Amino acid sequence: MKQLENKVILVTGGSGLIGKSIVEDIQNHGGIALNLDINIAKDASLDTHQIYCDITDSKAIESCFKKIHSHFGRIDGLVNNAYPRTKDWGNKFEDVTPESWAKNVEMQLNPTFFLIQEVVKYMVPNRRGAIVNIASIYGVVGNDFTVYDGTNMTSPAAYSAIKGGIINFTKYMASYLGKDNVRVNCVSPGGIFDNQNPIFVANFEHQVPLSRLGQPEDISPAVSFLLSDGAGYITGHNLLVDGGWTAV
Ligand SMILES: NC(=O)c1ccc[n+]([C@@H]2O[C@H](COP(=O)([O-])OP(=O)(O)OC[C@H]3O[C@@H](n4cnc5c(N)ncnc54)[C@H](O)[C@@H]3O)[C@@H](O)[C@H]2O)c1
Repeated sequence: MKQLENKVILVTGGSGLIGKSIVEDIQNHGGIALNLDINIAKDASLDTHQIYCDITDSKAIESCFKKIHSHFGRIDGLVNNAYPRTKDWGNKFEDVTPESWAKNVEMQLNPTFFLIQEVVKYMVPNRRGAIVNIASIYGVVGNDFTVYDGTNMTSPAAYSAIKGGIINFTKYMASYLGKDNVRVNCVSPGGIFDNQNPIFVANFEHQVPLSRLGQPEDISPAVSFLLSDGAGYITGHNLLVDGGWTAV
């Protein structure tokens, strides 16, 4: 039997760089992966496993989960992976307005709360479920800004606050839901190759022990493992998949 055989697993942002690989890996392990994204036709049938859902809209999530549950009969897993952000995301610290900071916290951090609050309504009565939140190395350590030398790139200030918040919220939820046999973990990727400026790529690869940026396929097996029964005694963990970035 495959490790995710017939498990119904929701993946937010499953059309994106890392999300696509998470969806594929779940499918390869026998799971039924449902992609919840805004990059999907609004009238797509549930049978396509592609569902239009804006995760910043708590009412939309409530009705989307209700539909999925009545169609599939259960919800076994949730991967919080989507990455909504404002148009000015990526501005230097000095240029970030309070409104932009607040909006990004609202769009990126708050949905983690209401997606989990909603999904546990279906997991707790079954006394089983696995939730994986996608965080980042920058929720664990401060940035090494030298990797941006020679480029106009930076890492947004709010990202660290949001991802650090997600990692500790994961521990809160793991503790709260332990009695219900619902596990909550994080996967924290390091930098992922996405055709960035070659100067950044060279700087980054020079600093990371495994001498390369990650690929989405480096991240997805860690997610599938934490969703599986093989991880049945793991909860509240933050699994760093970062080529050793946080080891040095
Ligand atoms: N790419 C990296 O280097 C990296 C590194 C560490 C962590 N991460 C984390 O991995 C996750 C995925 O990142 P990515 O690089 O694949 O991003 P991406 O931009 O490629 O994909 C994000 C997906 O989220 C979807 N999305 C955006 N707003 C949404 C909304 N309101 N509702 C539903 N879906 C929405 C987008 O349509 C897109 O398909 C994020 O949580 C990100 O913080 C990425």
